[in-house]
Amino acid sequence: MTSKIKVLSASTAIAGSLMLFAGAATAQPQAEILHYWTSGGEAKAVQALKEDFESKGGKWIDAPVAGGGGDAQAAVLRSRVLSGNPPAAVQIKGPNIQEWAEAGALGDLTAVGEEQKWDEVLPPLLQDIVKHDGKYVAVPVNIHRVDWIWANPKALEQVGAEPPKTWDEFNAVAEKLKAAGIVPLAHGGQPWQDATVFETVALGLGGAEFFNGAFVGKDLDLVRSDKMKEIFDQMRKIRGYVDPDFPGRDWNLATGMVARGEAGMQIMGDWAKGEFVAAGLEPGKDFLCFPTPSNGGYILNSDSFAMFEVSGEDNEAGQKLLAELILGEDFQETFNLYKGSIPARLGVDRTNFDACAIRSMDDLKAASDSGELVGSVAHEIAAAGAIRGAVLDVVTEHFNSDMSSDDAVERLAEALELAE
Ligand code: GAL
Repeated sequence: MTSKIKVLSASTAIAGSLMLFAGAATAQPQAEILHYWTSGGEAKAVQALKEDFESKGGKWIDAPVAGGGGDAQAAVLRSRVLSGNPPAAVQIKGPNIQEWAEAGALGDLTAVGEEQKWDEVLPPLLQDIVKHDGKYVAVPVNIHRVDWIWANPKALEQVGAEPPKTWDEFNAVAEKLKAAGIVPLAHGGQPWQDATVFETVALGLGGAEFFNGAFVGKDLDLVRSDKMKEIFDQMRKIRGYVDPDFPGRDWNLATGMVARGEAGMQIMGDWAKGEFVAAGLEPGKDFLCFPTPSNGGYILNSDSFAMFEVSGEDNEAGQKLLAELILGEDFQETFNLYKGSIPARLGVDRTNFDACAIRSMDDLKAASDSGELVGSVAHEIAAAGAIRGAVLDVVTEHFNSDMSSDDAVERLAEALELAE
């Protein structure tokens, strides 16, 4: 994969002390793992890691924080670190990894990376995310695609609809579903979910150059452009396709609405596939997966585990064991089959992956080659912190009010201008 994700990465040297993994054979590897994978598919994926870790003598101390998208967990992590009691391993990603590394909070995984040849098995775009100043400070576990539509085939068939290739076609399918009394779009009204829908529209209507220019480069001319107004116009249309009970709904409950045929579609990353699979449903038969309309675009999200600086030989041995397991070929298959994502590791056998995963692998390569691959903003890859916060705030306020597109782009420009 040649083109790299534009990520905000700090350039300063790692400030923290190196974590020397105790080699003491007597250590009982243990690790407290902070994560937010609590839905059906997510929990099965975590269970796979826990079982692998325990099968090799590790003591797993589970620290789940409910709340999709990770904002609730981020608050817990900040308080734990600031109180001097960080968990041994944390599921974080993108610029957040860089920021914690810059603060000196992360250990150095380079020794494990060299032993396990991560430079050879990880694509450069993931190395960019988990390396800080040339050192491995986290280990990626997957590649999720954000820009998917999950659809109920019977609902589409009932209204004679095909998977939409443009946003105008999406609106036409939604109108048909609405007329048939089927919720066109299952959605959870939470800022990260509103932003997930928003970024698929932004990539679809604007393309990668516009997307990165506006949200990573903070080019305010792009933010105030007619194109951005068109994107908010489309969000206003989408607001008319959700059901009245959408506010606050968890993403996986929206996925259930599609599974049961109560709703025709959901725009969500492929962790949603983990829910269908956990319910024993089959792609192509019980649910459909197809990209949101775009020009061959791909919005990438990738989960990683960062090892925070902790003391004690048992904790250090646990971190080393965890880091060694995560990129193993067998584990990469097992975990990603449950999680709905595709392996972070290059060259994992495709045989057991379904058509949605194969489509993701092929589209990722195509988008990388064509330059239409972008990092997710809603999921903290291309941007995090204040920039992501500005997008979430304005998008969710627009979605939940009658704010005009003109006002929305002005609010977004002002918010991004202030975002550091
Ligand atoms: C994303 C995360 C995914 C999935 C999703 C819903 O940010 O990267 O792994 O957990 O949130 O919680």
